[in-house]
Amino acid sequence: MRSMIQIISLGLLISPVACTHKVNIVSPEGNHKRITHEARSKKVMVASQGGGTTRAALSVLENGGNIIDAFVAASFAISVERPHSTGIGGGGFLLYFSQKENKVYAFDFREVAPLMATKTMFLTKSGAPQPLLSQEGGLAVATPGLVRGLFEIHQRFGKLPWKETLGPAIKLAREGFPLYPELHEALEDRKNLLLLDEEAKKTFYTPAGEAPYLGTMIYQENLAKTLEVIAQEGADGFYEGKIARSVVETVRKKNGLLSLKDLKTYKMVERTPVEGSYKGLKIFSMPPPSSGGIHVIQILKMLSPYELKKWGPQTTQSVHLTANAMQRAFLDRALYLGDPDFHPVPQKELLSETYLSKLSKAINHPKALGALDVKAEELPYESSDTTHFTIADEEGNLVSSTQTINGWFGSGVIAQGTGVILNNEMDDFAQKKGAQNLFGAVGGEHNLVYPRKRPLSSMSPTIMTKEGEPFMALGSPSGTRIISCVAQTILNTVEFEMPLYEAVAATRIHHQWRPDVLKIESPYLSPEVEKELKEKGHNISHEQLGCSIQAIKKVKGHWHGVSDPRGEGLSLGEL
Ligand code: GLY
Repeated sequence: MRSMIQIISLGLLISPVACTHKVNIVSPEGNHKRITHEARSKKVMVASQGGGTTRAALSVLENGGNIIDAFVAASFAISVERPHSTGIGGGGFLLYFSQKENKVYAFDFREVAPLMATKTMFLTKSGAPQPLLSQEGGLAVATPGLVRGLFEIHQRFGKLPWKETLGPAIKLAREGFPLYPELHEALEDRKNLLLLDEEAKKTFYTPAGEAPYLGTMIYQENLAKTLEVIAQEGADGFYEGKIARSVVETVRKKNGLLSLKDLKTYKMVERTPVEGSYKGLKIFSMPPPSSGGIHVIQILKMLSPYELKKWGPQTTQSVHLTANAMQRAFLDRALYLGDPDFHPVPQKELLSETYLSKLSKAINHPKALGALDVKAEELPYESSDTTHFTIADEEGNLVSSTQTINGWFGSGVIAQGTGVILNNEMDDFAQKKGAQNLFGAVGGEHNLVYPRKRPLSSMSPTIMTKEGEPFMALGSPSGTRIISCVAQTILNTVEFEMPLYEAVAATRIHHQWRPDVLKIESPYLSPEVEKELKEKGHNISHEQLGCSIQAIKKVKGHWHGVSDPRGEGLSLGEL
């Protein structure tokens, strides 16, 4: 069957796209979204969740900067523009493909547990978990890694002077940007917590304590001043001196454990990316302490022997098998994943051809298996926030970076006088082995709290190459769902040969073994397909997954950039 489908972008119909199968895709909506979701360029391309961020990266490239300067500029700008989901009080990962060296680098600037953290810090005397303690207030705060990471990566690969890369972010913080729907929603959601903090109240709410109207300008003068110090003094301007003292004093006042020593001794780690081959392509993604890379590759490899293309996307057979593959990958996640500096992760075994071929056969069961039928232990939970951006340049280099402060507005703790919103990444640890959290997931042993340990992540910045040339780079926010969203976008592009916009916009599913639910987002699959999936035993739940893929692909000598139409985003290039 060959059919034509219409795709909506910027609220306008653009040309119909030829597609082998008709698929459901989401449409962007909302008056205040800056929605340029798709762009083509021969030279450079930036896809990010913020207009100011995409323009910041482009301006640095236009001023003679290289892709790493653009990465640093985008990181600082997105910290300003998405203060609810990322920032200099958080951390992240970078995957960087250097075309000249034909090499992919992986950098880990994730937060680490404070030196005074203990395995029982979130438990009552009788050993009961206390989920709120790792989500709000001082104890939730892990040592931020973002600024140290950006500084060291820039020292090694950057071209422009460090301080020039912070220019656009300082301007954005000082001159402001209009309030957009997702930030508004986050302000409503975290109102009770943020209104307890004078600085947060003054920066983000009206004097009456309300979230402002959409379109109201948001100014962050204290953050602008902090960024100026970092521009002048480098990473030490954040990890030592006045800003560090404010971070520590504020966290301590809110019963946290962070110390000046935590900040001063924070270290970024260079890691070896996980690598897999898939349909003639090489996939590189983030290794532990992220679970993302391993499981994206596992899902794709489990599915690769099957005739998904013949069945078509969004058909019962394809969705059933994809859900089974996700379920199986998430079981491994619960069993084996954690910070590799504390527990060995059997990465080679998890990605070995022999093992994956066994899993591939095992997922081909006609009926859905319940979580208990898939032999299992426990599964850690991560929240749904975070951000991702992707950059490509004229030389064929690629950057794919996912960054986070974890939950919306992190811990809700703002280092007084600095505008720095501190993460609640401690919530990505398991409070206790086998303990259920607010979301019904249970925690794994490899992911228990330990001083200096990194909490398990799902962030999956991914880069794909074909015969040494760049093919595609992508990533997304949204906790455990990142893995499913990235894997499906690759599947849509490579297996189903969808154009990039459609591959990103197509309805997604998510299965994470526990809870034992197949989540399907809107627009849902066809009623017939959902009926057949139920008959196969899937527990279907209709819910939004929160992913926002930012992808760039090389198409006939052009960069094609797509920002997920599910939210804010701007893909823009230079012609
Ligand atoms: N905090 C989200 C993640 O690291 O996966």
